[in-house]
Amino acid sequence: MPSSTVITIDGPAASGKSSVARILAQRLGYIYVNTGNMYRAMTWAVLQTGIDPNDQDAVRQAAAGIVVDSPVTEGQTQVSISGRILSAEDLNSDPVNRGVSLVARVPEVRSRLVADQRALADLGPLVMEGRDIGSVVFPESPLKFYIDASEEVRAARRSAQGHTDQVAERDRLDSTRKTSPLVIPEGAVVIDNSHLTLEGAVQAVLDRLPPTE
Ligand code: DC
Repeated sequence: MPSSTVITIDGPAASGKSSVARILAQRLGYIYVNTGNMYRAMTWAVLQTGIDPNDQDAVRQAAAGIVVDSPVTEGQTQVSISGRILSAEDLNSDPVNRGVSLVARVPEVRSRLVADQRALADLGPLVMEGRDIGSVVFPESPLKFYIDASEEVRAARRSAQGHTDQVAERDRLDSTRKTSPLVIPEGAVVIDNSHLTLEGAVQAVLDRLPPTE
């Protein structure tokens, strides 16, 4: 069991899980952890080395020399590389959007970031969101959620945020990779928020928590 309560939230790209997780953490007074930012930071740093992210051996070698620092602060997961705090623009740039699923499929990258994510439970109760949090990072947590939305709604949300991200391609890579693909974790409550407001989706999670949470 993790050293503290961990609410796990998984789901595909642009499903709204980050907003739900952030607000939920705020309401409960828990630490919010966005693990996508950790994979994005690693990708940003790998791309700085100039290698092709399709080349898994090159990614593995480059990633071995990169340390992602992920201090969690009020309502955000700040990530830095060699002391440089990465901005939202760095983390959500088109090259990072295109490369992140290629970097995240490399098993050595995952095992290091998963160890970092598990260690965060020592800081206190968490709401942690990502793709494999309920299935791999904290499979023993009894509080697992999977937030989904239709492909059309997700594409619309993504373009409303001004991103030209191909969410369908990222989902395909994330769901078909060999190491910890995106799945609905065993025992997870599935919430489809295609037709829910953000508040409605947060409430749907709160309604499923035991009274003490
Ligand atoms: O949550 P996000 O869309 O910012 O995540 C970016 C990418 O990082 C996602 O396409 C796949 C990868 N990721 C992952 O493989 N495992 C996680 N726990 C979180 C993100």
